[in-house]
Amino acid sequence: MDMETIVKQTLLITGGAGFIGSNLCEHFLSKGYDVVCLDNFATGHMHNLDKCLHNENFKLIEGDIRNFDDCVKAVRGVNYVLHQAALGSVPRSLEDPITTNDVNVSGFLNMLTAARDEKVKRFVYAASSSTYGDSEGLPKVEDVIGKPLSPYAITKYVNELYAEIFSKTYGLETIGLRYFNVFGRKQDTNSAYAAVIPKFVQQLMRLESPLINGDGTYSRDFTYIDNVIQMNELAISTVNASAVNTVYNTACGDRNTLNELMQYLKAYLSKYDSKINDVEILYGVNRKGDIPHSLASIDKAKTLLGYDPKFSLEEGLKEAVDWYWNNLKEKK
Ligand SMILES: NC(=O)c1ccc[n+]([C@@H]2O[C@H](COP(=O)([O-])OP(=O)(O)OC[C@H]3O[C@@H](n4cnc5c(N)ncnc54)[C@H](O)[C@@H]3O)[C@@H](O)[C@H]2O)c1
Repeated sequence: MDMETIVKQTLLITGGAGFIGSNLCEHFLSKGYDVVCLDNFATGHMHNLDKCLHNENFKLIEGDIRNFDDCVKAVRGVNYVLHQAALGSVPRSLEDPITTNDVNVSGFLNMLTAARDEKVKRFVYAASSSTYGDSEGLPKVEDVIGKPLSPYAITKYVNELYAEIFSKTYGLETIGLRYFNVFGRKQDTNSAYAAVIPKFVQQLMRLESPLINGDGTYSRDFTYIDNVIQMNELAISTVNASAVNTVYNTACGDRNTLNELMQYLKAYLSKYDSKINDVEILYGVNRKGDIPHSLASIDKAKTLLGYDPKFSLEEGLKEAVDWYWNNLKEKK
């Protein structure tokens, strides 16, 4: 074999038919990786994989992370795992904590164990800002967390505990990425548990009045999908030994209120339909368990991984709104 030949790297992306996972599949295929996707389509969609399915470097395995054999099959011959599969949403976890726990904790442990047995190079997983729970300090720094406020938050914290134990006891390299309010192309608008941005976009496109819980002054660190992709790429490629076996805030490092978010959405969407500017915004009561403000410190990611987020909320929203208009206008 030619010395120059670069050995192809294979990534397993669990939850690869979901919002974040399908964006990761597309990105890493475009970078020349072989990509295996494991998904049971609980909340993911085949159409999210439209750009991947005909790529000869892509393999789809329909399976469930709650089934250990599916995890073993998916991880065979894989160099890196990007574990995204989980049941998201705080309200869903309050309605059905048992299923959320089965998928997010038992499924996670299955994947971690299968990855250890296969001796993968690194296991990178989707952690969550919900792990900060009731801690009030801003910005959030990785070492200071509070008590979880939902079953979902517990599951995501347990993931971090398991990952740390697997690193310490079995030498499996792990990196947890605590995602903060991710948004962008392909995020589900229709689910009962849709996130605020796709939900508001869909309602505004239909000239329906969106409902803000509270007075709109609560704020979040809204993070565009391309910043998240960058973090995943840095997490698998870092050769800095002190950068592994830890967790990172994966965020923009800025915060905006829901009122500001709504103003941007109206402004960008009314380019397509001026009537959107006149849609009335409704205000309700604050949702139980919602923290008033969230903002990440991204210093650790900048220092140890060289993270350099390219998208602010406004820049990301412009792209996301264009995508939603072009892809959903027929179906709105
Ligand atoms: N979107 C966010 O703002 C955000 C914030 C924090 C953390 N996260 C985490 O990021 C990850 C991806 O989230 P997303 O927003 O893309 O959600 P998503 O629901 O779009 O994607 C999750 C994917 O996992 C799959 N899945 C669910 N249960 C499964 C199972 N038992 N076996 C195999 N596949 C299964 C779903 O079908 C779906 O394709 C999740 O772990 C989520 O908890 C997301």
